[in-house]
Amino acid sequence: MGILEVKGVNKRFGGLQALGDVNLSVQEQTVHAIIGPNGAGKSTLLNCLVGKLIPDSGSVMFDNQSVLGRKPHEINQMGISRVFQTPEIFTDLTVLENMMIPCFAKRDGAFRLHALESLGHEKGIREMAETMLEEVNMLDKRNAHAGSLSRGDKRRLEMAMCLVQEPRLLLLDEPTAGMARADTNNTIDLLKEIKEKRKITMAIIEHDMHVVFSLAERITVLAQGTPLVEDTPDNIKGHPKVKEAYLGEAAH
Ligand SMILES: Nc1ncnc2c1ncn2[C@@H]1O[C@H](COP(=O)(O)OP(=O)(O)OP(=O)(O)O)[C@@H](O)[C@H]1O
Ligand SMILES: [Mg+2]
Repeated sequence: MGILEVKGVNKRFGGLQALGDVNLSVQEQTVHAIIGPNGAGKSTLLNCLVGKLIPDSGSVMFDNQSVLGRKPHEINQMGISRVFQTPEIFTDLTVLENMMIPCFAKRDGAFRLHALESLGHEKGIREMAETMLEEVNMLDKRNAHAGSLSRGDKRRLEMAMCLVQEPRLLLLDEPTAGMARADTNNTIDLLKEIKEKRKITMAIIEHDMHVVFSLAERITVLAQGTPLVEDTPDNIKGHPKVKEAYLGEAAH
């Protein structure tokens, strides 16, 4: 049994079957990549995991509990956090002010409480925010406006805002999209560090195969809303079904 078990999930948008009988099992403390061509249903699947979309049928279990029928904040409290395809940060606030937002929410009980239980004042919140910024090597940028950050740093800040919630499952939707190579490599290093230090499980959607093969231990290939193959990176490389998914008829 994986920490995340998706079984028989279907989702239609009008006449379009965006997800057709999707099964996915993500093992605890692994990085599981979901790859596939544009429109394959990757983001739709992630949206079904966090309560943004409700599947037409099927089940989604996290740690043996159903996420279906729960509101997004409840799913978040269960231990699932998500980094969006476009960074969800407050561009007119400083890095530190952004970072303090989930810390307040955490203290006030919006997220699972662990380390913060004893901290009831702003100084504690600030300390917590600064500690998290230090962990992602952004403490020196704490007074910069978030809108002025590079794309890579915006992502890094957003990840830190997720991590401070102490998720057990981190969902990442194209974490390196549009990044320069140096930022991409920094993001790979950061995710490796996070995984090692925090022992969390990650499900990552990614088009950049350099990122996928640097991080993933299992890979699921989605095409037209259906998983084609799930295997290790070594077995996925050069797999005929993967070529077919990306090249369609041209593969034959
Ligand atoms: N809210 C929606 N309403 C109608 N159709 C949608 C909606 N969201 C997604 N779709 C369609 O569902 C299909 C799957 O979309 P999805 O965004 O999940 O693909 P994706 O694999 O994430 O693609 P990309 O790699 O381009 O991000 C596409 O055909 C898309 O146009
Ligand atoms: Mg997408």
